[in-house]
Amino acid sequence: MRISLSTLPPEQIETEALVVIGFDKDSPHGGLSWECTRRVNQAAGGWLEEVCRSGEFTGKAYETLTLHRPPGLKARRLVAVGGGNSARFTSLELRRAVGAAVRSLRSRSLTDLAVALEGGPEQARAAVEGAVLGDYEPDHYKSEPKNGRPIERLTLAAPADARLEAAAEQARIIAESQNYARDLVREPANRMTPPLLAERARELAAEGGLECDVLDRGRMSQLGMGALLGVAQGSTEPPALIVLRYQPAEPAPGGACLGLIGKAVTFDSGGISIKPSEGMDKMKFDMAGGAAVMGALRALARLKPAVPVTGLIPAVENMPGGRAQRPGDIVRTLSGKTVEVLNTDAEGRLILADTFTYAQRLGCTHLVDAATLTGAIVVALGHVYAGAFGSRQALLDRVLAAARAAGEKLWPMPLDDDYKEPLKSAFADLPNVGNRWGGAVTAAMFLKEFADPLPWVHLDIAGTAWLEESKPYLAKGPTGAPLGTLVQLVLDWS
Ligand code: BES
Ligand code: MN
Ligand code: ZN
Repeated sequence: MRISLSTLPPEQIETEALVVIGFDKDSPHGGLSWECTRRVNQAAGGWLEEVCRSGEFTGKAYETLTLHRPPGLKARRLVAVGGGNSARFTSLELRRAVGAAVRSLRSRSLTDLAVALEGGPEQARAAVEGAVLGDYEPDHYKSEPKNGRPIERLTLAAPADARLEAAAEQARIIAESQNYARDLVREPANRMTPPLLAERARELAAEGGLECDVLDRGRMSQLGMGALLGVAQGSTEPPALIVLRYQPAEPAPGGACLGLIGKAVTFDSGGISIKPSEGMDKMKFDMAGGAAVMGALRALARLKPAVPVTGLIPAVENMPGGRAQRPGDIVRTLSGKTVEVLNTDAEGRLILADTFTYAQRLGCTHLVDAATLTGAIVVALGHVYAGAFGSRQALLDRVLAAARAAGEKLWPMPLDDDYKEPLKSAFADLPNVGNRWGGAVTAAMFLKEFADPLPWVHLDIAGTAWLEESKPYLAKGPTGAPLGTLVQLVLDWS
C-alpha cells in the first residue's frame, strides 16, 4: 500500500473513494462532529446531513454508506463510515473505523482511497494502522481471492502539520510488521516447522539491522536445556532456539538490554497428554508469541530506537511420537532446577523456562514474554484482554502504558506466592502443572521461578492472538498481538 499525505481540502482530492467519519445523532452537530466532515458535506450539497436526517445513515460504528459521483467533489465516491458517539471516539475507534472502510472498499475491489482527518499525529497513526491491518486477508492458499483486492493507495487528507509524515511512516512500519507476524502465524504447521521459522529469522536478519543466531539440538544439549529438549523429542522436527539481536548505533545510557521472548510451538498436539481432536487445528497458532517477537524485531530494525533488544524464540513441535516425553518424566532445566512433567500439554512453560535462563546468560536486564500459554486465561478474560503478569510494578506499569498507547488491551493479573501452593512435586524441584484452579496464574508462577531475579512481565495471549470470527475492521485468524505493545515499550524506554 502506498501511503501519502495531502493538505488539499478533502473536496479537491482525486480518488476512487473519499472516506469521512460520521457519528451518531447524539453527537454534536447531529453526527457531523468533525469540521472536515462538515466541509465535505457542504461541498457535496448537504448529502451527509440528509442521509443522517432520513436515518439511512445512523453513524453506528462501522456502518458504511456510499454516494457515487458526489456533486462538488473531485472524488468518484463519497463513503461515510460510522464512528459511534464522537465523545467516546478514541484513536482505537478511529483505527477500527478506517479498517472497516478499507475492508468494505477492498471487498468491492476498490483499491484507492483518501481519508478526511481533523489532524494531528495520533489520527495519522490510527488511520494508517487501521488501513494496513484492515487490508490484511489470509487467503494465500485460496485459488480465488476471498475478499476482493488489496488496497494500492491511501491518502491522508489533513491540515499541514510537520509531525504527520513521521507518525504515518512509523505507523506503517509497525502495522506492516504486525502483518508480517500474522503471515507467520497463518501458515499451517506443515509449512511452518521450527527449522522453517528459523530460516525466516535468518532472512529477517539478512534484510539488515539484526543479528541472528540459531541454537540447534546439539548446542541445546551441550548447554543443558533439558526442558526445551524434552518437549521437542516427540517430534521428528528438530527444535530451534532463535536469537535475534538489535544493537543501536549509540545505546542510551543506563545499560538496559530488553529480552523479548516469544513461545513458538509450531504445533501443539498436547504430546502424550494429547488434546481432544475438536479444535486441534487451531494449535498451529501456538507460535503466535514467537511470531509477534520476530515482527517486533523487524519493526525495531527499521525504527532504530536507542535501546538494545534481544529477541529469543524457542521453536518446537509438541508431538506424541515414539520418543516423546511421558507424564512423570523428570527433566533438568538449564537453571539446574528439575521439573516433573506431569502433563506434556503444559509444554510452553517448559520451553520458556530454559529460554529465560539463556536470556539472563546473554545479559538481558529485563524480560517480557508473550505466549499462548493457557486455556485458563481465555476462561478468565475471554478474547478481549490479554493477561499481564509482572514481577515488578515499575516494569508492569511501563508495559501497560505501552499497550494503551498502541491500542492493545492488557489486564493486570496477580502474581502472589500463595499461588505457588499447588506447584509441589514429590520427586523433583517443581511440577509443570498445579491443580485445576487459577491455571493462568500457576503457569505464571512456574515461569517466575526462571525469570527471577530479573524484572519480568508475562503476557498470556491465548485469547487475543487469534480472531475467531472476522470483524468489520479485521479478518478472521491471526491478529499479530501483542506486537504493538512490545514495539511501543522499546520506543518509550529511554
Ligand atoms: N497452547 C496451549 C494453551 C491454549 C489452550 C491456548 C487452548 C489456546 C486455547 C498450552 O500449551 C496448553 O495446552 N495449556 C494447557 C495447560 C494445562 C495442561 C495445565 C491448558 O491450558 O489446557
Ligand atoms: Mn499445550
Ligand atoms: Zn501450547
